[in-house]
Amino acid sequence: MALLLFLFLATTLTISQGSDQETIPHKVHLLRPQSGAGGDHVPGLSCLSWRLGVETNNVVGWITVPEECEDYVGHYMLGHQYRKDSRVVANQAILYAQSLSLARDGKDVWLFDIDETALSNLPYFAQHGFGVEPYNPTLFKKWVMEGQAPALPESLTLYKKLLSLGTKVVFLTGRPEDQRTVTVNNLRKAGYHTWEKLILKGSSYSGKKALVYKSSERKKLEESGYRIIGNMGDQWSDLLGTNVGNRTFKLPDPMYYIS
Ligand SMILES: *[C@@H]1O[C@H](CO)[C@@H](O)[C@H](O)[C@H]1NC(C)=O
Ligand SMILES: [Mg+2]
Repeated sequence: MALLLFLFLATTLTISQGSDQETIPHKVHLLRPQSGAGGDHVPGLSCLSWRLGVETNNVVGWITVPEECEDYVGHYMLGHQYRKDSRVVANQAILYAQSLSLARDGKDVWLFDIDETALSNLPYFAQHGFGVEPYNPTLFKKWVMEGQAPALPESLTLYKKLLSLGTKVVFLTGRPEDQRTVTVNNLRKAGYHTWEKLILKGSSYSGKKALVYKSSERKKLEESGYRIIGNMGDQWSDLLGTNVGNRTFKLPDPMYYIS
């Protein structure tokens, strides 16, 4: 049902897009996006500027998408722009990974976050909305426990490329330890068939911020001899802190903020 709705929304919203191929006139006052993900018709808060602020880690600590930007974020996520933006990130990561001459001693690892990185919860958000309290913990947990999240296709492409280059993959997620089985099954179902480690948030980290938990687990990894050559996530708390790896890659996520 959720998937059907998602497909329906994705199809409908796609039709209203597609103007980004048009030539942009060289006059500043004409530089007004007409539709789709560029559409930004709200007087006052510019939702495109808000999203840019989120992606650049200037807008922090927000609880929900501003009410006037709910439609904008929905169009962005379900239309082409989210996928195009994700593709740029993944392609840069592939170019970077290909440029490295690795030791192939099994110690080079690439870190992936899971939600909105390896896996996409877009079917959930398409059903429940992008604005006020989409992150209903009970409903979201129910969705997670179904184990039906699809891969973010761009991340899966990168994952396959990394394996072919001899890089090991480590998943480091804020999902709690008691979601291990469902997460393993979901990852496999989505196309991620192998990994070096799957690190979930143990009870010793309860109440600790993602940034603290992830830094600490990355430190342990490096102390046990792994080299983190790349690190990809949708939250800045995946990519900041200590032991972040040689290079970080930020996927877009204007839906929620985790500190
Ligand atoms: C990662 O960074 C370290 C420290 O700067 C450097 O010694 C190492 O060569 C880098 N590894 C790769 C694969 O670039
Ligand atoms: Mg995430």
